[in-house]
Amino acid sequence: MSEINWSQLHTAAIAAMKTAYAPYSKFPVGVAALVSDGRIVSGCNVENASYGLGLCAECGLVSQLIATGGGRFIAISCVDGQGNPLAPCGRCRQLLFEHGGPSALLMTDDGPQTMAAMLPWAFGPDDLDRIEG
Ligand code: THU
Repeated sequence: MSEINWSQLHTAAIAAMKTAYAPYSKFPVGVAALVSDGRIVSGCNVENASYGLGLCAECGLVSQLIATGGGRFIAISCVDGQGNPLAPCGRCRQLLFEHGGPSALLMTDDGPQTMAAMLPWAFGPDDLDRIEG
């Protein structure tokens, strides 16, 4: 895996954000990720008149990851309507962790951070294999 092109990821996240369907919150979100095979996948938030049913951008990202062949997230850029880094909500950190693990990188206002830092003491697939006692 070559060097991460954060600028390219940021551009893809902004492009995704511009497709967001956020008529209720008026808070568009876009996210793009570099996958282990080199492709880039993206997603945007999709809201609903039944407010609680809205889908975060990361949900679309994960759907596109799986629908286009799977793989692992290497690096992720998530942006708000101004194109600034957005810290994903807790539920979405869990979604990203599932498909990137602790070493996946997420761009923040303080530069790239690992998912281990963004979701400390995470529950993940490995925990399902643990049998205690
Ligand atoms: N949102 C996301 O798409 N991802 C996040 O990580 C945080 C929040 C969306 C949900 C809703 O459509 C809007 O942002 C305002 O909360």
